[in-house]
Amino acid sequence: MNQDQKSNLPMAPIVDSHGRVHRSLRISVTDRCNIRCFYCMPENVKFLPQDSILNFEEIHRVVQILARQGVSRVRLTGGEPLVRSELWNLVELVKSVPGINEVALTTNGILLSDQAKKLKSSGLDRINVSLDSIDPEKFKEITRRDALDKVLAGIDAAVQAGFDNIRINAVSVKGISETEVIPLVSWAQQQNLHLRFIEFMPLDGDQAWQNQQVFTGARLRSIIEAKFGTLTPVRRGHASQPATDFQLSDGSAPIGFIDSVTEPFCQTCDRMRITAEGKLRNCLFSTQEWDLKDLIRSNASDAQIEERIRLGIQHKKLGHGSDSGRFVRPERAMYQIGG
Ligand code: 5AD
Ligand code: SF4
Repeated sequence: MNQDQKSNLPMAPIVDSHGRVHRSLRISVTDRCNIRCFYCMPENVKFLPQDSILNFEEIHRVVQILARQGVSRVRLTGGEPLVRSELWNLVELVKSVPGINEVALTTNGILLSDQAKKLKSSGLDRINVSLDSIDPEKFKEITRRDALDKVLAGIDAAVQAGFDNIRINAVSVKGISETEVIPLVSWAQQQNLHLRFIEFMPLDGDQAWQNQQVFTGARLRSIIEAKFGTLTPVRRGHASQPATDFQLSDGSAPIGFIDSVTEPFCQTCDRMRITAEGKLRNCLFSTQEWDLKDLIRSNASDAQIEERIRLGIQHKKLGHGSDSGRFVRPERAMYQIGG
């Protein structure tokens, strides 16, 4: 075997010091967004300059390096990823990397009407749409923008384009989301969409998060059961999947709960993240980052980039501890990390 053939062979998987193998990569393609959800972004926000953001070729290179180390799933996030010009070209690039089995997208849905078809034909496998309310006023209160119609039209467009596994992510916050739970569940059941409730995490741009604002998954389940009947747990697809899915007795679409604060799922985490400006983060709640962009832009070899990624993952902590008194908030908000 010659040297070239050897360098194409998969190397050792990326494992942290707690034995967790990393197969999933989340890439934030921009910190910009066309709405301003209060739990993520401040109203007045200064975005990164364009040239400090990884371009598609640079992202492609990192994905190729990671795919050779056993990463097989990529999720594109933001900010809002669809505000990045011609994102479907990146989808196509990433999807063509040998070893990448799944390319997914987390979006607020506003630009999906225009882009769903192109995204589908570029090979995008799945879409998660963030939607916390189907009431226009409440939507506006949460997102500080009047855009519910566009999101609903975007979801329709995605269904029409042939995406059959769309998930709806609803962040729930005490004092705000109580009125939204039943309408959201009814709507998702009617539309046959997989709805997932996410606990409010301390990653808001305004740094206003308080533990008392966490609307727990347990509480949500009891509200849903009181109205719709027993929720029966569904077997997990992936061990690393953060949501616990349940089903109502009528066999309609599952309802999931991502209880990130009250029931952290760090033990099975296989995720790593790259921010829009090319920093590796080993966890949403990490207080440390490893810069890949400076390596990429200084002609570093693939091996050097890989080494820095491994270093970052080695430092991954066992858990985020946001449910403990000693928790240290990360400086970055969700839009600066990528969900
Ligand atoms: N807590 C929980 N979820 C959040 N998201 C953004 N900010 C927070 C937060 N502070 C969600 C978005 C989207 C995903 C990327 O992360 O609603 O669904
Ligand atoms: Fe993984 Fe960090 Fe999320 Fe825990 S908080 S599940 S360690 S990314």
